[in-house]
Amino acid sequence: MLAAGSSSAADADVLARGAYVYRASGCLACHTEDRVGAVPLAGGRALATPLGTFHAPNVTPDPEHGIGRWSESDFARALTRGIAPDGSPYYPSFPYTSYTRMRPEDVSVLWAYLRTVEPAPARDRPHELPLYLRARVVNWVWRALYFTPGAFADDPSRPAEWNRGAYLAEALAHCGECHTPRNVLGGLDDARRYAGAAQGAEGGSVPNITPDRATGIGRWRPGDLAEYLASGATPSGDYAGGGMAEVIENGTRHLTAADRAAIAAYVLSLPAVENAAGRKERGVTQPRGEFD
Ligand code: HEC
Ligand code: HEC
Repeated sequence: MLAAGSSSAADADVLARGAYVYRASGCLACHTEDRVGAVPLAGGRALATPLGTFHAPNVTPDPEHGIGRWSESDFARALTRGIAPDGSPYYPSFPYTSYTRMRPEDVSVLWAYLRTVEPAPARDRPHELPLYLRARVVNWVWRALYFTPGAFADDPSRPAEWNRGAYLAEALAHCGECHTPRNVLGGLDDARRYAGAAQGAEGGSVPNITPDRATGIGRWRPGDLAEYLASGATPSGDYAGGGMAEVIENGTRHLTAADRAAIAAYVLSLPAVENAAGRKERGVTQPRGEFD
């Protein structure tokens, strides 16, 4: 157990590792309002999905409005099982479907880190959902169809770098939550993993990042992808925009070069899938954000 205000080297190491997991996992993006001066993790960002608009709650240690009264096991259950302390199931707009792959030691250091952020007394905003989705019990059905719980296990037939990249991409950075197309119920289409989506989580299109040469990133070398995750620069001299700029700015830019290279090795090893859906509109209807 980590004592608040303790300054021992072991605690500092736990917090540093927790901060690393936190950045790699992109918690900030959804749990923070999209405006200058927003309090980190105090909640409120509107996530407009095809099924309705979700507002990620306050996850600061505020005892009243945040998760200050939670235990570490409440947190682990929420993050890796998608179940609230009162036993009700979360909506999959909270990507516990990816975080379930997180190793217990990473969940633990992440929890320690979250205890140290500034508590914010901000009230949660209710989701805006059609009537048939308002009762949380609908999530039991969804889970039965699309949720496979369980931590990531290394594939011993693959090199260590590939396994590290797979872990980072699947369990922490949840690349597939945005880059994999979904069916009408919001379930991920596993046969087209990372193949892009015409209508992504935030409404806009998300490009195909499988190694397909025509519609994906098959022309990128691993070094190009690692560079993109560091600086947002594409091989053609363009810059990442939209949700991806945020993934890079708050997340992958802060990882070690070895971890970015591992993600690149993993993503470029995936089966190539031809799918132009996420690509068509790009650069035409989507304004490109400024990176940095
Ligand atoms: C894609 C957006 C998104 C990301 C990324 C995300 N969350 Fe969430 N999170 C949500 C939404 C939306 C909910 C509310 C789900 C619901 O109401 O069923 C939620 C709920 C939670 C809850 C439950 C809070 C409560 O009061 O019951 C916790 C804890 C949480 N998230 C922690 C995290 C952590 C830690 C991370 C990073 C590892 C993270 N989230 C990343 C969207 C996100
Ligand atoms: C929050 C949703 C989201 C997440 C999470 C996400 N991406 Fe993206 N990604 C996007 C969007 C949106 C774009 C399009 C950006 C643009 O228009 O410049 C994009 C663009 C890209 C591109 C550029 C493709 C091209 O052809 O220009 C690559 C490569 C990429 N993402 C890789 C990744 C990897 C690897 C991860 C996980 C580490 C990841 N993304 C996680 C939403 C996301």
